[in-house]
Amino acid sequence: MKPYIYITRKLPDHIVEPLSQKYEVHMWEREDVPVPRETLLEEAKKADALLTMLSERVDEEVIEVGENVKVIANLAVGFDNVNVDAATRKGIAICNTPDVLTDSTADLTVALLMATARRVVEAAEFVKQGQWKSWSPLLLAGHDIHHQTIGIFGMGSIGEAVAKRATGFDMNILYHNRSRKQSAEERLGAQYCTFDELVAKSDFVVCLAPLTDETRNIFTKDVFKRMKRSAIFINASRGPLVDEEALYRALKNGDIAGAGLDVFVQEPIGADHPLLTLPNVVALPHIGSSSVDSRSKMMELCVENIDLILSGKEPKTLVNK
Ligand code: DGY
Repeated sequence: MKPYIYITRKLPDHIVEPLSQKYEVHMWEREDVPVPRETLLEEAKKADALLTMLSERVDEEVIEVGENVKVIANLAVGFDNVNVDAATRKGIAICNTPDVLTDSTADLTVALLMATARRVVEAAEFVKQGQWKSWSPLLLAGHDIHHQTIGIFGMGSIGEAVAKRATGFDMNILYHNRSRKQSAEERLGAQYCTFDELVAKSDFVVCLAPLTDETRNIFTKDVFKRMKRSAIFINASRGPLVDEEALYRALKNGDIAGAGLDVFVQEPIGADHPLLTLPNVVALPHIGSSSVDSRSKMMELCVENIDLILSGKEPKTLVNK
């Protein structure tokens, strides 16, 4: 019998082709709707390998029922949706998709920062809704980006790629990370500082750290209070790093000037969420790595890792080494 692979979202046929030639491949046939929990559990029972999305909870229950599962390839660099400890105990390899998405995610992070600072979304809507009556001296005046201080919380590969882009804007670069990043300091002139310093000194506080027990809810009411009143907060990592109620209050009360958010505690965020009522919020639907090229490479990497494991070889990007 051929090994059974279950893919939890519709992926293009040409991407899945290398697996279909060798294995029995089944796939949730919707691109826009996540696989129902019951289907995931049923499929995990039969599977030798799972290709999952960040929208699924791959928790202990999924791992327990997946008695034959040897590998779970998660289509993201982040793997906070997967219970890695439970998988490791069962000897299941967890793979992610680092590197191939770094530049695209950095591009989007900077695009979000620029759109928020220069009020691009508000301005575009202003024109489309026929509100533009005349040029005027302070019409939709925003915040400068060049020569400002960017504070990057989480100096992984994406953080460094954002810092590299920031050098092109002559920005002063601060960062906070679990460990010092020599390359960012020497190559990009980034200066290491404490989390408190970063929060207090930055014009742009950019959150790029992974979601862990240490970072969950790290952006609290108190942290937003310690930011400059002109600060802009950007989040392109994971929503649960932020107390969204506190962020809403900070934006509403003018404790900070704006927020660009690609990620939320609950995804998709409800259209009636208070954050979406604020003009100084730019909200995107978690599209950090979403260029056709990067998403294709991420899918290909998942496919390759599954094939490598099922062929008894080392995967390219193993999380639980
Ligand atoms: C990731 O890969 O973790 C991103 O959030 C997906 O865009």
